[in-house]
Formats: sequence, structure tokens, C-alpha cells
Amino acid sequence: MGLVASSRAISDCGGSVRRTTMTAMDRPRETVDCGDFTLRRWRAESDFEPLFRMIEESLEHLGPWMPWVAHHAPEATRAFLAECDPKWRSGDAYNYAITVDGALVGSCSTYRAGDPSGRAMGYWLRSAATGRGIATRAVAAMAAEAFALPGVEHLDIVHDSANTASGAVPRRLGFVEVGRERAAPPAAPSDSGIDVVWRLTRPTEPLRRPHRFGTLPGL
Ligand SMILES: CC(C)(COP(=O)(O)OP(=O)(O)OC[C@H]1O[C@@H](n2cnc3c(N)ncnc32)[C@H](O)[C@@H]1OP(=O)(O)O)[C@@H](O)C(=O)NCCC(=O)NCCS
Repeated sequence: MGLVASSRAISDCGGSVRRTTMTAMDRPRETVDCGDFTLRRWRAESDFEPLFRMIEESLEHLGPWMPWVAHHAPEATRAFLAECDPKWRSGDAYNYAITVDGALVGSCSTYRAGDPSGRAMGYWLRSAATGRGIATRAVAAMAAEAFALPGVEHLDIVHDSANTASGAVPRRLGFVEVGRERAAPPAAPSDSGIDVVWRLTRPTEPLRRPHRFGTLPGL
């Protein structure tokens, strides 16, 4: 593992993938209203400038934990955006922009990562958007979407053990720490090299219910 929250791509996507034919009903919602913020699909053309600028402004904040930031360049941003639509269609990755009043504040994704009965999740925010529960609630919203898909039995989040802000997200949401393991390269500058693996198993009770950190979308 080691590819999830501390991954090498803007999408936080990685791991081996399994290709299947999917119907529209097998996919999550393209726009998820979370109250004071929204998750929506990335737009290859119109998101390029604001996404590139957001990463540019966040280099010091993101760089210590995300290896792909070292390769930040217009080509990398374009390549990420170009991959979003085909990966959405195949189900390999559902990459969402996080917006507040229409402006980008971060990115989150759920994607196939090896185990066919599970999906992995990743997230990051621009520094100005931290401290408001946006990442935690975005992951809760993605979890509701992912568990509504057929065959998703568990969701995993992996982060470096030194990245306590990242680890607080799965902890708040009731993920269980299931392991620690040596991280696969590349490492980000502040990484300790030890990944923490968290897992949330498909709940037996209905998902779209009030949540202690807010309200899951769809209520
Ligand atoms: C990881 C990252 C997204 C976490 O951001 P964050 O702001 O700490 O997380 P949230 O948006 O969920 O906000 C949580 C904070 O908001 C508070 N909060 C307010 N309202 C909240 C709500 N409704 N629900 C949950 N938390 C809420 C929490 O108490 C917490 O405050 P604290 O930091 O004082 O403990 C951010 O640090 C980041 O972008 N880091 C760089 C990239 C990165 O490391 N990504 C993950 C790679 S492994």
C-alpha cells in the first residue's frame, strides 16, 4: 500500500486496478452537496488554471507530505485532469474537486487499489481551507457514495505515521487502524517511511444518516 493519502499523483490514485464494465448506476453522484462545500467532478478545461494556481499557492503546505508536489508543473496538472474522465468512466478513480462558493479548495478521490472488494481514499486541502472539518466531511461524503456502489465492502486510507493531520481524518470517522508497514517509494520530504493503514468496513446500518461530524449528504 502506501499509495493512498500520501500518493504520487494529484488524484491520490495508485495501486493495481481491476477493469470491469460499469453502468451509469454503478457510479457515484457527480456532484455532492455537503452544505458549506461541494464535491464535484473535475473539469479538464476550465479547472486547469485554478487547479494549477491552487497547487502553486500550496507548495509549502502540500510538499512535505505528497511526493507528486515535487513534480508540480503545468504538464502534470493537465495530465491529472486529462485522466479524470476516463478513470471515472472505467470506475478506476472517482476524483472530486472540493469547492466552496464555486472556488476550488482541495481534492479528494476514491479509487481501486488492488483488493477488488475495497477502494482507497485520498484527500488534500489548500492551507486556507484547513481546520473546518472539510476533509473529514468530504471523506464521509465519499464513503457514503462508495458504499452505495456494488461490491464495495471496505474503504482504506493510508498515510505516513508522521502526518498526524491526515491520520485524524479516518480516526474521526470511525476507521480502524489495521496495520503499519514500511512505505513504498517515493517518499515525501517529511515522511517517516512508515505507513499507517486505516479501514472502514461497510456499515450494517443505513449510511445516509446524521453523523456525529455533521450530516451525511443525501438526507
Ligand atoms: C490532511 C488535511 C487535508 C487535513 O486537513 P484538516 O483541516 O486537519 O482536516 P479537516 O478539514 O477535516 O478539519 C479538521 C479540523 O476542523 C475541526 N472541525 C470543525 N468542524 C468540524 C466538523 N464538522 N467535522 C470535523 N472536524 C471539524 C476539527 O476539530 C479539526 O480541528 P483541529 O485541526 O484543531 O483538530 C490537510 O492537513 C492537508 O491538506 N495536508 C496536506 C496534504 C496531506 O497531507 N494530505 C493527506 C496525505 S496522507
